[in-house]
Amino acid sequence: MFNKLCIIGVGLIGGSIARAARLQKLSRVIVGFGREQDVQNLQTARQIGVIDEFYLDIAAAVQDADCIIIATPVAGIEAVFAMLKPFWSANAVYTDVGSTKGNVLAAARAVFGKVPDNFVPAHPIAGAEQSGVLAAIDDLFVHKRLIITPVDNTDTEALRKIQRFWQQLGSSVSLMDAQYHDHVLAATSHLPHILAFALVDMLGHKDEQSEIFKYAAGGFKDFTRIASSNPTMWTDICAANKNAILPLIEQLKGELDKIQQMLENDDSRQLFATFTYANHARQRFLNQIETTMSKSQSFQIQPGGKLQGETRVPGDKSMSHRSIMLGSLAEGVTHVTGFLEAEDALATLQAFRDMGVEIEGPVNGCVTIHGVGKQGLKAPKNELYLGNSGTSMRLLSGLLAGQAFNSVLTGDKSLSGRPMKRVTDPLSLMGADIKTTEQGTAPLHITGRAGQLTGIDYTMPMASAQVKSCLLLAGMYAQGETRVAEPAPTRDHTERMLSGFGYPVRRDGNKVTITAGGSLTAMDIDVPSDISSAAFFLVGASIAPGSDLLLRHVGINPTRTGVISILRLMGANIDVLNEREVGGEPVADLHVVYSPLKGIDIPEELVPLAIDEFPVLFVAAACAEGQTRLSGAEELRVKESDRIQVMADGLQILGVDAQPTVDGMIINGGKIGGGVVNSHGDHRIAMSFSIAGLRADAPITVLDCANVNTSFPEFKDLVKALGLALVCTEE
Ligand code: S3P
Repeated sequence: MFNKLCIIGVGLIGGSIARAARLQKLSRVIVGFGREQDVQNLQTARQIGVIDEFYLDIAAAVQDADCIIIATPVAGIEAVFAMLKPFWSANAVYTDVGSTKGNVLAAARAVFGKVPDNFVPAHPIAGAEQSGVLAAIDDLFVHKRLIITPVDNTDTEALRKIQRFWQQLGSSVSLMDAQYHDHVLAATSHLPHILAFALVDMLGHKDEQSEIFKYAAGGFKDFTRIASSNPTMWTDICAANKNAILPLIEQLKGELDKIQQMLENDDSRQLFATFTYANHARQRFLNQIETTMSKSQSFQIQPGGKLQGETRVPGDKSMSHRSIMLGSLAEGVTHVTGFLEAEDALATLQAFRDMGVEIEGPVNGCVTIHGVGKQGLKAPKNELYLGNSGTSMRLLSGLLAGQAFNSVLTGDKSLSGRPMKRVTDPLSLMGADIKTTEQGTAPLHITGRAGQLTGIDYTMPMASAQVKSCLLLAGMYAQGETRVAEPAPTRDHTERMLSGFGYPVRRDGNKVTITAGGSLTAMDIDVPSDISSAAFFLVGASIAPGSDLLLRHVGINPTRTGVISILRLMGANIDVLNEREVGGEPVADLHVVYSPLKGIDIPEELVPLAIDEFPVLFVAAACAEGQTRLSGAEELRVKESDRIQVMADGLQILGVDAQPTVDGMIINGGKIGGGVVNSHGDHRIAMSFSIAGLRADAPITVLDCANVNTSFPEFKDLVKALGLALVCTEE
């Protein structure tokens, strides 16, 4: 907490800082400083309680202040520094809110010779079209970004104080270089403002102006909203950042020229491709903003209930990923139905768009992929961001290792902590060039080695479908044969789908072989429901008395049905009905009715066949009579979270006797109580503890659940419709 916070310039931003700081009790006294002509505004600020006092004399304003925030327009910053210089105190921290940072640092250097150690340059990415203290609000900075651009000599203690201050105002703070900041902001803020001003300027000068505006609809209003911003402020900002803005204007002119040509040539296909790309890119940016800035979600589950009715859970995640990958590499147009519209599969879809593949949809699970052929991918302009998806990253690393271009794969915090050596080690044996961090994690920097990969004969140290698929995809670009042997059967969707596309793959026992000799021909793919999503309902209906549920069109590929086998061994009542084959994959309807469960020793050979279902199987074990023991499942420790530890912690909080072991868990079934458990952002753990609510005797709260959207966005609604009392809250 500060003793005296002095705000220089009590307008929209300065006033909002004062309001929020007062609300959060971040300073004992808050004062404002302004010029003669600002007196009225300052009086208002004092009157409405935004500041305690105001000064027109800088010496009095900053006297004994331990935090000084410069909230004036960027053009005036040098004059403000000059005014502050005689009173600059080593005991205070100084910061600013300027939207351009290069010029702020230049002004500091001009006045002080160097940027003072205790000046922390900052920029809150928040604002409004209105100005003045009356427009100030308490929560202008909540869930907004705040960028700090420190210099080499910035004092770490001062930096920490300012960082903490903004975090307490609710902002998400990032640190970056000032020059980079100015480039980023030129593209995402300054150029859009210029465009809005330019469009309205152009239309405003037209003779028929009144006629035009009479017919202007929502689109015009949305697009030009920012042209209502303060002209003085924006003149300052554009002038201050012109070096970064000018090249962007040039680029934009080029883009407009391209569109002009498409229209002149009646090239509606290209126009459609451009608009589609932009449409999806915007959605992706919005999703990214939502994920990074999103409020955290938690689920509150009322105890009891039963699951009744029938439903079709969303499409299989593994197959959805592969349909995009192989559809993109095929010759011709591939139509996919049943595609999983969840963040993980959408990350793969976006990655292929970024590599030049035209993909329509998804609309109601339908996706149309205009395949570019095996050699048709283009270099992505930026790094490929794969969110939470291990499958996307591991499979893409294999595919991209043999391309004629370089690429960089990144992911969210969880994915950036997961082991990638399991793919980069065998890939480097094939001649790939992929750099990981020292810990063997993402980002992956891939130097494309087109024509230089050679096949290997590789026995995987772990039973992993992702590693197998990665090597098969690399093998499609390698000289000679690539052979992958698996220590235990793992899901074989890659092999099946490759065959479906007409690409030769051979299986001999536990070994799969591929060469570069084939090509893929487009086909239609009907993705069945994901048995990993169905698993929550299989367990839920098995543990909740009175349940009776029909799950339609579920994929029952034998490499995925471990969950059914294990539940049946525990005494579950599951019927597999109406078995059929759809597009090379077995599918069935699953009928599950409540049945008391008993503890078992889970056969180790079933582990890879149920690898994603253990979180919810642990819940089944907690409800079973007697002891359930799992071993040979160390892989669970490197999934989206350490699923052994996180599940054991949560179960123990709920009063279950669950003992984690190195490679599994020992659970003595009994009662499930209530409590607050943390899913650590792991989608399957969040859903598993929700299901536990069916047998709990008190409410359960599950924290950090937003990632359910990576695999099963409909979970909350579906589970409610079938009989579980779940409420999702955001904060
Ligand atoms: C997947 C394989 C499995 C599984 C993951 C999806 C795939 O991972 O856990 O959710 O689509 O190939 P491993 O192959 O690493 O076991």
